[in-house]
Amino acid sequence: MAGEDWSEVDAYIVEKLLSPDDPLNQALDAALARNRQAGLPAIDVSPAQGKLLHLLARLAGARKILEIGTLGGYSTIWLARALPDDGRIVTLEFSPVHAAVARENIFAAGQGGKLDLRIGPALEALPALEREGAVFDFIFIDADKANNPAYLQWALRLARVGAVIVVDNVVRGGRVLDAASADPDIVGTRKFFDLAGSEKRWTATAIQTVGMKGWDGLGIGIVE
Ligand code: SAH
Ligand code: DHB
Ligand code: MG
Repeated sequence: MAGEDWSEVDAYIVEKLLSPDDPLNQALDAALARNRQAGLPAIDVSPAQGKLLHLLARLAGARKILEIGTLGGYSTIWLARALPDDGRIVTLEFSPVHAAVARENIFAAGQGGKLDLRIGPALEALPALEREGAVFDFIFIDADKANNPAYLQWALRLARVGAVIVVDNVVRGGRVLDAASADPDIVGTRKFFDLAGSEKRWTATAIQTVGMKGWDGLGIGIVE
Protein backbone atom coordinates (compact mmCIF):
# COMPACT_ATOMS: atom_id res chain seq x y z
CA MET A 1 0.00 0.00 0.00
CA ALA A 2 1.48 3.30 -1.13
CA GLY A 3 -0.05 5.20 1.80
CA GLU A 4 1.66 3.00 4.38
CA ASP A 5 5.02 3.38 2.63
CA TRP A 6 4.62 7.14 2.66
CA SER A 7 4.10 7.16 6.42
CA GLU A 8 7.02 4.82 7.04
CA VAL A 9 9.36 6.99 5.01
CA ASP A 10 8.04 10.07 6.82
CA ALA A 11 8.79 8.37 10.15
CA TYR A 12 12.32 7.59 8.92
CA ILE A 13 12.87 11.23 7.93
CA VAL A 14 11.65 12.39 11.34
CA GLU A 15 13.85 9.85 13.12
CA LYS A 16 16.95 10.99 11.25
CA LEU A 17 16.38 14.76 11.01
CA LEU A 18 14.10 15.70 13.92
CA SER A 19 15.67 14.05 16.93
CA PRO A 20 13.30 13.62 19.90
CA ASP A 21 16.27 14.43 22.18
CA ASP A 22 16.39 17.97 20.83
CA PRO A 23 14.47 20.31 23.20
CA LEU A 24 13.25 22.27 20.16
CA ASN A 25 11.54 19.15 18.85
CA GLN A 26 10.22 18.30 22.31
CA ALA A 27 8.36 21.62 22.46
CA LEU A 28 6.79 20.86 19.07
CA ASP A 29 5.83 17.33 20.12
CA ALA A 30 4.31 18.79 23.30
CA ALA A 31 2.23 21.18 21.18
CA LEU A 32 0.89 18.29 19.10
CA ALA A 33 0.09 16.34 22.27
CA ARG A 34 -1.77 19.34 23.73
CA ASN A 35 -3.70 19.78 20.47
CA ARG A 36 -4.88 16.18 20.53
CA GLN A 37 -5.72 16.37 24.24
CA ALA A 38 -7.80 19.51 23.57
CA GLY A 39 -9.68 17.67 20.81
CA LEU A 40 -8.36 19.80 17.94
CA PRO A 41 -8.46 18.07 14.53
CA ALA A 42 -5.14 16.45 13.51
CA ILE A 43 -4.70 18.73 10.50
CA ASP A 44 -1.47 20.42 11.62
CA VAL A 45 1.31 20.30 9.03
CA SER A 46 3.52 17.22 9.45
CA PRO A 47 6.86 17.60 11.29
CA ALA A 48 8.85 17.40 8.05
CA GLN A 49 6.53 19.96 6.43
CA GLY A 50 6.81 22.23 9.47
CA LYS A 51 10.57 22.12 9.17
CA LEU A 52 10.25 22.94 5.47
CA LEU A 53 8.20 26.04 6.33
CA HIS A 54 10.87 27.01 8.86
CA LEU A 55 13.64 26.61 6.28
CA LEU A 56 11.72 28.54 3.61
CA ALA A 57 11.12 31.42 6.03
CA ARG A 58 14.83 31.48 6.90
CA LEU A 59 15.82 31.33 3.23
CA ALA A 60 13.54 34.33 2.68
CA GLY A 61 15.23 36.17 5.57
CA ALA A 62 11.77 36.81 7.01
CA ARG A 63 11.35 39.37 9.81
CA LYS A 64 7.57 39.67 9.53
CA ILE A 65 5.43 36.61 8.90
CA LEU A 66 1.67 36.31 8.35
CA GLU A 67 -0.11 33.00 8.88
CA ILE A 68 -3.77 32.48 7.96
CA GLY A 69 -5.11 29.50 9.98
CA THR A 70 -3.41 28.90 13.33
CA LEU A 71 -5.15 25.80 14.73
CA GLY A 72 -3.04 24.89 17.80
CA GLY A 73 0.00 26.83 16.66
CA TYR A 74 2.17 23.91 15.51
CA SER A 75 3.12 25.56 12.20
CA THR A 76 3.23 28.93 14.01
CA ILE A 77 6.00 27.66 16.30
CA TRP A 78 8.05 26.39 13.35
CA LEU A 79 7.66 29.75 11.59
CA ALA A 80 8.25 31.88 14.70
CA ARG A 81 11.56 30.10 15.25
CA ALA A 82 12.70 31.24 11.81
CA LEU A 83 12.41 34.87 12.97
CA PRO A 84 15.07 36.99 14.64
CA ASP A 85 14.34 37.93 18.28
CA ASP A 86 12.73 41.21 17.23
CA GLY A 87 10.67 39.51 14.48
CA ARG A 88 6.89 39.26 14.50
CA ILE A 89 4.35 36.63 13.44
CA VAL A 90 0.73 37.62 12.94
CA THR A 91 -1.47 34.53 12.92
CA LEU A 92 -5.21 34.55 12.19
CA GLU A 93 -7.64 32.07 13.72
CA PHE A 94 -11.43 31.94 13.57
CA SER A 95 -11.95 29.65 16.56
CA PRO A 96 -11.38 31.09 20.06
CA VAL A 97 -10.89 27.52 21.32
CA HIS A 98 -8.14 26.80 18.81
CA ALA A 99 -6.57 30.19 19.52
CA ALA A 100 -6.44 29.56 23.28
CA VAL A 101 -4.64 26.25 22.76
CA ALA A 102 -2.29 27.88 20.26
CA ARG A 103 -1.40 30.70 22.63
CA GLU A 104 -0.50 28.22 25.35
CA ASN A 105 1.60 26.14 22.93
CA ILE A 106 3.42 29.11 21.43
CA PHE A 107 4.30 30.56 24.84
CA ALA A 108 5.37 27.13 26.12
CA ALA A 109 7.71 26.91 23.11
CA GLY A 110 9.31 30.24 24.10
CA GLN A 111 7.93 32.11 21.07
CA GLY A 112 5.29 34.25 22.83
CA GLY A 113 7.34 37.44 22.49
CA LYS A 114 6.98 37.36 18.69
CA LEU A 115 3.25 36.51 18.67
CA ASP A 116 0.35 38.61 17.39
CA LEU A 117 -2.61 36.17 17.44
CA ARG A 118 -5.87 37.59 16.14
CA ILE A 119 -9.18 35.83 16.71
CA GLY A 120 -11.97 36.10 14.14
CA PRO A 121 -12.63 35.58 10.43
CA ALA A 122 -9.45 36.12 8.45
CA LEU A 123 -11.35 38.17 5.85
CA GLU A 124 -11.99 40.74 8.61
CA ALA A 125 -8.45 40.71 10.01
CA LEU A 126 -6.76 41.11 6.61
CA PRO A 127 -8.27 44.55 5.77
CA ALA A 128 -7.42 45.66 9.31
CA LEU A 129 -3.79 44.68 8.74
CA GLU A 130 -3.77 46.72 5.53
CA ARG A 131 -5.19 49.75 7.39
CA GLU A 132 -2.37 49.36 9.92
CA GLY A 133 0.16 49.45 7.10
CA ALA A 134 1.44 45.94 7.83
CA VAL A 135 3.87 44.48 5.27
CA PHE A 136 5.08 40.87 5.34
CA ASP A 137 8.12 38.96 4.07
CA PHE A 138 6.56 35.50 4.29
CA ILE A 139 2.91 34.44 4.24
CA PHE A 140 1.53 30.97 4.96
CA ILE A 141 -2.08 30.35 3.88
CA ASP A 142 -3.67 27.36 5.67
CA ALA A 143 -7.27 28.09 6.69
CA ASP A 144 -10.60 27.40 4.94
CA LYS A 145 -9.67 26.37 1.40
CA ALA A 146 -12.85 27.87 -0.10
CA ASN A 147 -11.36 31.31 0.55
CA ASN A 148 -7.90 30.57 -0.89
CA PRO A 149 -8.48 32.82 -3.95
CA ALA A 150 -9.36 35.72 -1.64
CA TYR A 151 -6.48 34.91 0.71
CA LEU A 152 -4.01 34.91 -2.17
CA GLN A 153 -5.28 38.31 -3.30
CA TRP A 154 -4.94 39.68 0.24
CA ALA A 155 -1.50 38.14 0.60
CA LEU A 156 -0.39 39.96 -2.56
CA ARG A 157 -1.63 43.27 -1.12
CA LEU A 158 0.18 42.72 2.17
CA ALA A 159 3.45 41.31 0.83
CA ARG A 160 6.58 43.23 -0.05
CA VAL A 161 8.20 42.65 -3.43
CA GLY A 162 10.32 39.50 -3.05
CA ALA A 163 8.12 38.04 -0.33
CA VAL A 164 7.32 34.32 -0.32
CA ILE A 165 3.75 33.03 -0.18
CA VAL A 166 3.14 29.35 0.65
CA VAL A 167 -0.29 27.73 0.38
CA ASP A 168 -1.09 24.41 2.07
CA ASN A 169 -3.39 21.63 0.83
CA VAL A 170 -3.59 22.45 -2.87
CA VAL A 171 -3.82 18.83 -4.09
CA ARG A 172 -6.17 17.18 -1.57
CA GLY A 173 -5.60 13.57 -2.52
CA GLY A 174 -5.91 14.44 -6.21
CA ARG A 175 -9.44 15.81 -5.81
CA VAL A 176 -8.17 19.10 -7.26
CA LEU A 177 -8.72 17.49 -10.70
CA ASP A 178 -12.47 17.17 -10.14
CA ALA A 179 -13.84 20.06 -12.21
CA ALA A 180 -17.42 18.94 -11.42
CA SER A 181 -16.94 18.97 -7.65
CA ALA A 182 -19.41 20.99 -5.60
CA ASP A 183 -17.15 20.80 -2.53
CA PRO A 184 -16.34 24.45 -1.69
CA ASP A 185 -12.78 23.44 -0.76
CA ILE A 186 -12.17 21.95 -4.21
CA VAL A 187 -13.92 24.80 -6.00
CA GLY A 188 -11.76 27.23 -4.01
CA THR A 189 -8.60 25.28 -4.73
CA ARG A 190 -9.29 25.25 -8.47
CA LYS A 191 -10.06 28.98 -8.45
CA PHE A 192 -6.82 29.48 -6.55
CA PHE A 193 -4.93 27.71 -9.38
CA ASP A 194 -6.71 29.79 -12.04
CA LEU A 195 -5.76 32.95 -10.20
CA ALA A 196 -2.19 31.83 -9.57
CA GLY A 197 -1.78 31.03 -13.27
CA SER A 198 -2.99 34.43 -14.42
CA GLU A 199 -1.57 36.61 -11.65
CA LYS A 200 1.52 38.42 -12.93
CA ARG A 201 2.57 39.51 -9.44
CA TRP A 202 3.11 35.94 -8.22
CA THR A 203 5.64 33.56 -9.79
CA ALA A 204 4.59 30.23 -8.39
CA THR A 205 4.68 26.49 -8.64
CA ALA A 206 2.95 23.67 -6.82
CA ILE A 207 4.64 20.58 -5.51
CA GLN A 208 2.83 17.37 -4.57
CA THR A 209 3.61 15.90 -1.17
CA VAL A 210 3.12 12.44 0.33
CA GLY A 211 3.68 11.26 3.89
CA MET A 212 1.89 10.80 7.18
CA LYS A 213 -0.74 13.37 6.09
CA GLY A 214 -1.48 11.43 2.90
CA TRP A 215 -1.25 12.90 -0.59
CA ASP A 216 -1.49 16.67 -0.83
CA GLY A 217 0.57 19.59 -2.05
CA LEU A 218 2.01 23.02 -1.44
CA GLY A 219 1.78 26.11 -3.60
CA ILE A 220 4.98 28.14 -3.34
CA GLY A 221 5.74 31.43 -5.03
CA ILE A 222 7.55 34.73 -4.88
CA VAL A 223 5.94 38.17 -5.13
CA GLU A 224 7.10 40.26 -8.11
N1 SAH B 1 -1.58 26.01 10.22
C1 SAH B 1 -2.01 25.01 11.19
C2 SAH B 1 -3.24 24.26 10.72
C3 SAH B 1 -4.41 25.15 10.41
S1 SAH B 1 -5.91 24.23 10.25
C4 SAH B 1 -0.87 24.00 11.41
O1 SAH B 1 -0.35 23.51 10.40
O2 SAH B 1 -0.51 23.72 12.56
C5 SAH B 1 -6.98 25.46 9.67
C6 SAH B 1 -7.40 26.48 10.74
O3 SAH B 1 -8.05 27.56 10.06
C7 SAH B 1 -8.40 25.94 11.75
O4 SAH B 1 -7.96 26.15 13.08
C8 SAH B 1 -9.66 26.75 11.49
O5 SAH B 1 -10.42 27.06 12.67
C9 SAH B 1 -9.10 28.01 10.88
N2 SAH B 1 -10.06 28.74 10.04
C10 SAH B 1 -11.05 28.21 9.26
N3 SAH B 1 -11.73 29.19 8.66
C11 SAH B 1 -11.17 30.35 9.05
C12 SAH B 1 -11.45 31.72 8.76
N4 SAH B 1 -12.43 32.07 7.94
N5 SAH B 1 -10.69 32.66 9.35
C13 SAH B 1 -9.66 32.30 10.17
N6 SAH B 1 -9.35 31.03 10.47
C14 SAH B 1 -10.11 30.07 9.92
C1 DHB C 1 -7.78 20.11 6.33
C2 DHB C 1 -7.19 21.35 6.53
C3 DHB C 1 -5.81 21.45 6.53
O1 DHB C 1 -5.19 22.65 6.71
C4 DHB C 1 -5.03 20.33 6.34
O2 DHB C 1 -3.68 20.47 6.35
C5 DHB C 1 -5.61 19.10 6.15
C6 DHB C 1 -6.99 18.99 6.16
C7 DHB C 1 -9.25 20.00 6.33
O3 DHB C 1 -9.92 21.01 6.52
O4 DHB C 1 -9.73 18.90 6.15
MG1 MG D 1 -3.15 22.61 6.06
